[in-house]
Amino acid sequence: MTLDGKTLVVTGVASGIGAATAALLQRHGATVIGVDRNVPAESAGTFVQGDLSTPEGVAAVADRVPEGISGLLNIAGVPGTAPWQTVLAVNVFGVRELTRLLLPKIADGGAVVNLASNVASGWAARQLEVSRFAQAADAQEAIAAVADDPEVTGNSYRFSKECVRWLTQVQASENLGRVRVNSVSPGPVQTPILEDFKKDHGRDKVEGAVALLGRAGRPEDIAEAIVFLLSPQAAWLNGTDLCVDGGLLAHRTVTAMATAAA
Ligand SMILES: NC(=O)c1ccc[n+]([C@@H]2O[C@H](COP(=O)([O-])OP(=O)(O)OC[C@H]3O[C@@H](n4cnc5c(N)ncnc54)[C@H](O)[C@@H]3O)[C@@H](O)[C@H]2O)c1
Repeated sequence: MTLDGKTLVVTGVASGIGAATAALLQRHGATVIGVDRNVPAESAGTFVQGDLSTPEGVAAVADRVPEGISGLLNIAGVPGTAPWQTVLAVNVFGVRELTRLLLPKIADGGAVVNLASNVASGWAARQLEVSRFAQAADAQEAIAAVADDPEVTGNSYRFSKECVRWLTQVQASENLGRVRVNSVSPGPVQTPILEDFKKDHGRDKVEGAVALLGRAGRPEDIAEAIVFLLSPQAAWLNGTDLCVDGGLLAHRTVTAMATAAA
């Protein structure tokens, strides 16, 4: 595959999956505009330092991105160990607003990939609540309105990624025939965020999943799926989610069904 002549904006470029994706893109010949609140240890392309947790921060980043880019990879994210307001601000509204501001700068035939998670696989059961929140006109009001809802504040990471699954479909549907928008849902991946997931989701659960699979995902495993989704080979994939978890979700679903049937 060659991505010569393509320019991709990659958020979360200073660590983990974002760093691996930027490196893979560059190996395929693409130009990377990396975005992060932290300065990456290595940066071969252009780097834009910015905070995606506020509308002002998102706008400042978007202002520095030129017209005519080929796509946007929304990889930056925070775990559920961060304050729930920050989780929702970065993972939902950071993704939504950066995409809204950059879509007009994406050339026809471009692509957006959003990082969701396999913990969001049950999102459709909460579709109404998720869609209302993710599409609320005012992000600050939407965050304030869920302050007394422990289902959201106590599961802010899962809820945020459920919103990403929904936003992916909204963004795809609004840009049919021009820009494709898909999401990737990893299971546990060996990056700095994994320790936070152990605190948030339970150490035994995460370590049990890794033991079952024989290893955690590698950032490179996820980068390959992300790069595939923005490539011409994925030209007919739009508004969908690619679960990249070594089979963990399939195994959990089959096991739960076997238990229910027993
Ligand atoms: N690692 C996993 O097990 C896993 C599993 C499922 C989904 N994900 C998702 O994949 C994405 C990448 O995660 P990762 O594993 O590479 O984690 P990571 O912690 O290694 O990287 C996340 C990056 O996002 C950046 N970031 C966070 N908040 C930001 C902000 N306000 N403004 C700008 N940059 C910000 C961080 O500085 C960091 O460089 C995240 O969206 C995460 O939720 C990860």
